[in-house]
Amino acid sequence: MRLIIASNNKGKIREYKQLLEPLGYDIVSQREAGINIEVEETGTTFAENSALKARAIFEITKNAVLADDSGLEIDALNGEPGVYSARYGGCTNDAERVALVLDKMKDVPDEKRTAHFVCTIHFIAQNGSEIAVEGRVYGKIGYEPEGENGFGYDPIFMYEGKSFAQIGAKEKNAVSHRANALKALIQKLTSQEG
Ligand code: IMP
Repeated sequence: MRLIIASNNKGKIREYKQLLEPLGYDIVSQREAGINIEVEETGTTFAENSALKARAIFEITKNAVLADDSGLEIDALNGEPGVYSARYGGCTNDAERVALVLDKMKDVPDEKRTAHFVCTIHFIAQNGSEIAVEGRVYGKIGYEPEGENGFGYDPIFMYEGKSFAQIGAKEKNAVSHRANALKALIQKLTSQEG
């Protein structure tokens, strides 16, 4: 089944392909589906933003669509960068955003560097029915960027002693917030079928 992912983020599309193609979905990005609208993320929660994006694309295409919203919540920064993860501090690239977080965290001791990634998924089936789920992964903010894999805040998100950019895609996909949200979605999809 053709499933449009409401995103053009290469890192995300790659992860969804790895996670969903084995289940028989034919994954296409927004661009590949020929949709060049940029849905404004005006919601104040991850769930609102993913619903906004999914509904906008479904309206246009009437094709099954999956939209997500995700970000990093750092306890010592009162949940920042949160829903503003992609545009934190007005920075224009991942390296700048990582540097900003490290600067804000420079005086925070080890035990207070806890953080989690959140991912909400809003899925709309071909018949228009909607499913919303959330997934998380808990870790800590490191002291310097480490590793070359992944994207976004991966180089400073420490999970079981390694950054998300140090572990391979396979390992990340087994434990990530996106994987956990997707597992919740697949569980709901299969329980509806049964
Ligand atoms: P979104 O595209 O609105 O979901 O923005 C998500 C932003 O949160 C990304 O641009 C990244 O900065 C950050 N983010 C979300 N998921 C991840 C991840 O798996 N690794 C690293 N950063 C992430």
